[in-house]
Amino acid sequence: MGFWAHLDREAVFERGDVYRVGFDAERAAHAPVRLAVLGAGGVAQSKYLPALAQLRTRWEPVELVALSTLDARAADKLATVWGAPVYADSATLLRDHRPDAVLVTSSDDAHAELTLAALEAGAHVLVEKPIAESLGSAAAMCRAAEAAERLLVTTCNKRYSPPYAEARRLLDAGALPRPALFSAKFVLGYEYVDLLASGTIHVFDLARHFMGDVRRLSAVSAAADLGIVVMLEFANGAIGSVVTTGAALSLHPWERVEIFGEHAWLEVDDQLTLTLHAAEYEPAQAWSPAMPNTLLSAEEWGGYVGMLEAFLAGVRGGAGELDPLDGYRALELVTASRLSLERRAPVDLPLDGDTLQ
Ligand SMILES: NC(=O)c1ccc[n+]([C@@H]2O[C@H](COP(=O)([O-])OP(=O)(O)OC[C@H]3O[C@@H](n4cnc5c(N)ncnc54)[C@H](O)[C@@H]3O)[C@@H](O)[C@H]2O)c1
Repeated sequence: MGFWAHLDREAVFERGDVYRVGFDAERAAHAPVRLAVLGAGGVAQSKYLPALAQLRTRWEPVELVALSTLDARAADKLATVWGAPVYADSATLLRDHRPDAVLVTSSDDAHAELTLAALEAGAHVLVEKPIAESLGSAAAMCRAAEAAERLLVTTCNKRYSPPYAEARRLLDAGALPRPALFSAKFVLGYEYVDLLASGTIHVFDLARHFMGDVRRLSAVSAAADLGIVVMLEFANGAIGSVVTTGAALSLHPWERVEIFGEHAWLEVDDQLTLTLHAAEYEPAQAWSPAMPNTLLSAEEWGGYVGMLEAFLAGVRGGAGELDPLDGYRALELVTASRLSLERRAPVDLPLDGDTLQ
């Protein structure tokens, strides 16, 4: 894939199919998946449904069988725009349609209930982050998925965003010998979302994605509403920090990830540019897309297309690149950060109590 991870070179340069809508025999031969969306609000309509439409346009055999929402005013619009019946009651939807797979994109308070209902109805589930409102609920969801022998994946869209996907590829290729230090900043200015559970959780997931499990965490804050610093000790001996605030600017949430190895490091700035610093006497290798880019959709950039592809591959029984416990572990880092702030002391992981080991 190389640095142009988001562009299919063969499609662009050899077939002249720059938008990748030409017949794709390999994709079209995938087993069909019947999918429902439970909780079709903002993120479903602006990210998931466009990403699904894009995959279908590229010959992915995934059928949208039904949607649910509690917003009665949106029902007609949703049915017209997305061409599927809309339900207020998700249990009736599940009974009527028996989908193979379900996206739970409702508000956080309904994640657990809708996920358990979908698993019970035999569906594989992709649930938005945070997986649940408590670790206990998250553990129950993971256990239910295991018992039902169904996939349960939590949104980790940033992993599939091109600069982060490329950073992961560089790490796998050994571009950073002995990666030992992770540093991230995540800032936003929204007051209507919980900073740690709704925002910083993305960066916690990236910390685990790049560095592995965390064994100890320590959070400090001058004033929790103004900023938190979380220090991480990873199970493999690496260390890291996450600096986060909800008191920045609403219209420009910003994030930055740096990973340091032995005499080599990389940075992903603002989910946009990737730079690899790996040679003393040569320029750094920097990559940033031309934006706006007519060949690149926002859904690909946000990682939704890639994440849905990975989910569908899992639904079809493919090699599981998505670990069902990832969503649980990301929420565990949020919970442990809060505990550490409360106790003013480091917290060891995994947490005791109603948790999965
Ligand atoms: N991955 C990301 O970057 C990202 C971005 C935004 C939101 N989110 C997450 O996505 C989820 C949804 O956020 P949003 O901004 O779309 O919220 P929203 O309020 O716009 O939409 C939520 C929808 O869920 C529906 N709903 C709630 N309870 C339901 C139930 N029991 N049955 C059926 N429908 C139900 C509501 O009617 C509404 O249509 C949240 O968990 C949020 O944390 C993630």
